[in-house]
Amino acid sequence: MTDKFLGRLLDEASRPYRAAGRFGYHFARGKLGSDCIFRELLRRGIFPSAARFLDLGCGQAVFASWLLAARKLYEAGDWPADWPEPPRVLALRGYELMASDVARARAALADREPQVVIRQGDIRSTDFGRADVVTILDVLHYIDHAGQEDLLRRARAALPAGGLLVTRVGNAAAGLPFHVCDWLDRAVILARWRRRPVLWCRGLSDWVVLLARSGFEVETMPMSEGKPFANVMLIARANGA
Ligand SMILES: C[S@@+](CC[C@H](N)C(=O)[O-])C[C@H]1O[C@@H](n2cnc3c(N)ncnc32)[C@H](O)[C@@H]1O
Repeated sequence: MTDKFLGRLLDEASRPYRAAGRFGYHFARGKLGSDCIFRELLRRGIFPSAARFLDLGCGQAVFASWLLAARKLYEAGDWPADWPEPPRVLALRGYELMASDVARARAALADREPQVVIRQGDIRSTDFGRADVVTILDVLHYIDHAGQEDLLRRARAALPAGGLLVTRVGNAAAGLPFHVCDWLDRAVILARWRRRPVLWCRGLSDWVVLLARSGFEVETMPMSEGKPFANVMLIARANGA
């Protein structure tokens, strides 16, 4: 039952990428269909019922499309009885460094503007404005350690007390499963950016300490299902609620 529903959700979230070309469409389907984090974010009811989202390092914005598709199916009465209501996207701003990803995101989501706005920008220096939820999925390790600290402090400043930051990181203290993912990441950097692959990783306890120092209370959950990786989702709530 849920598998069939997930198929419909995947169809709905991928369809807009037909306007972004073959690569964009198949990438969206592959990513949304194979990465457990998208399903788990909905199934676990992590987000508030309505929110302004800020997606940092959004790639071609498949997360935005996933949220919009989820809400559309929910409103059409097509939703698993044991899943919580998906969030209403009041606004979603995504920032991404790579022009090609931004172009695919915009081609796919053009008709959702101004609710969804995707901009090319470097999240080490972009003004974050205000948001209720900040997502940084598989991005922090591209930024050096001082930059990570600065970015998380600015993300905290963009949120109200009780606001949510969701990130996924690799646990560099996890041994082989971490190295498998790390090698893959480095191969992707070489292929896409043709530069020496330098990444700034941390052990899980270090990530938790860093988030706590940046003004968050943190919960961690393994998030690599079906893959030999050491990925962990961090649900960080802004202090002061
Ligand atoms: C592994 S991809 C994840 C994309 C997206 N978050 C997702 O889950 O589909 C990492 C993304 O972070 C982007 N990125 C890395 N450093 C960045 C920076 N300084 N500013 C903006 N985006 C950045 C990369 O270009 C890449 O698209």
